Amino acid sequence: MTKITAADGTPAAPFCFGTMQFGAGSTESQSQQVFEACRAAGINFFDSAWVYTNGASETILGELAKSEREKLILTSKGGYTGSASRENLTAQLDESLTRLQTDYIDIYFMHRFDDDVPLQETFDALTSFQQAGKIRQIGVSNYAAWQVMKAQGVAAQSGTRIDVIQPMYSLVKRQAEVELFPMCLSEGIAVTPYSPLGGGLLTGKYNRAEQATGRLSTDDRYAARYAPAQMHETAGALAQMAADQGVDPATLAVAFVAANPAVTAPIISARTVEQLRPSLAALTLPLSSEAYSTISALSPKPAPATDRLEEG
Ligand SMILES: NC(=O)c1ccc[n+]([C@@H]2O[C@H](COP(=O)([O-])OP(=O)(O)OC[C@H]3O[C@@H](n4cnc5c(N)ncnc54)[C@H](OP(=O)(O)O)[C@@H]3O)[C@@H](O)[C@H]2O)c1
Repeated sequence: MTKITAADGTPAAPFCFGTMQFGAGSTESQSQQVFEACRAAGINFFDSAWVYTNGASETILGELAKSEREKLILTSKGGYTGSASRENLTAQLDESLTRLQTDYIDIYFMHRFDDDVPLQETFDALTSFQQAGKIRQIGVSNYAAWQVMKAQGVAAQSGTRIDVIQPMYSLVKRQAEVELFPMCLSEGIAVTPYSPLGGGLLTGKYNRAEQATGRLSTDDRYAARYAPAQMHETAGALAQMAADQGVDPATLAVAFVAANPAVTAPIISARTVEQLRPSLAALTLPLSSEAYSTISALSPKPAPATDRLEEG
């Protein structure tokens, strides 16, 4: 299995923190408080992207991280807007490095699969960034399993490899269990999944109040992503289970993602320290296999990747 470490050799913490809200949902001072709470909890792994909050995410993270850069693992992503062409990736990576006030990014992700640019061009560019010391490891996000394996073949021809993937994954978004996770266990690829709370749905707040404030009520993309009634039923059942156990539903939701054997580190997130606490609490809540199965039973498992499994 690919190891994720900081440049000074420190291993990655069991959770990564995602900074997609820095400079928008979180003010600069809230971002700093959240960053410091993560550091106090031992988190040394922070996710960002060129496209987040018009650059504020990387700029704020760079300022917070610069005094202990070599102990930290910073990620960024390119090619979400524009394309995965060498020209666009070069420009976005150079801008990310400037904003992050660093010479290197620890893991650089392709933010999405780009049908319009040959993989050879993308992976030749990534290899040259790696050889120049601008990026340490290569990752891909939002790729289907066949796209990862196709890209891995091209990466090998370019003299490099995909070390990490970043898919969406939570109790209400389980598609990654079908192909991506078995692929990563088989190929030794690390997995840092995003949205373990389903964008906030699994905190249970949308079950408690119709007018709950949060991303699902303000962002149409998230409202559509988590619209199915079944997902809201799962969130309600998780909230009830958590209440029975005297824990926060967010703690159970993050612990469920972290407990999957394919998962290296879930990317947790929160706009404030108060929101962050229940996700951090999952660091010290290892789930027994019985507890894991009980949570897992709250949502449908996706259909398997191949037929005829019932024949034994
Ligand atoms: N590669 C990609 O395409 C991609 C896509 C998305 C995210 N990501 C990465 O993954 C990270 C995490 O994703 P995510 O933000 O979607 O994760 P998430 O954990 O599913 O959702 C976090 C959001 O849930 C709400 N929340 C968290 N704790 C709460 C609490 N205790 N009480 C009430 N509400 C709470 C907050 O939003 P509200 O207060 O607004 O409800 C918070 O911003 C991002 O920062 C980013 O780094 C990557």
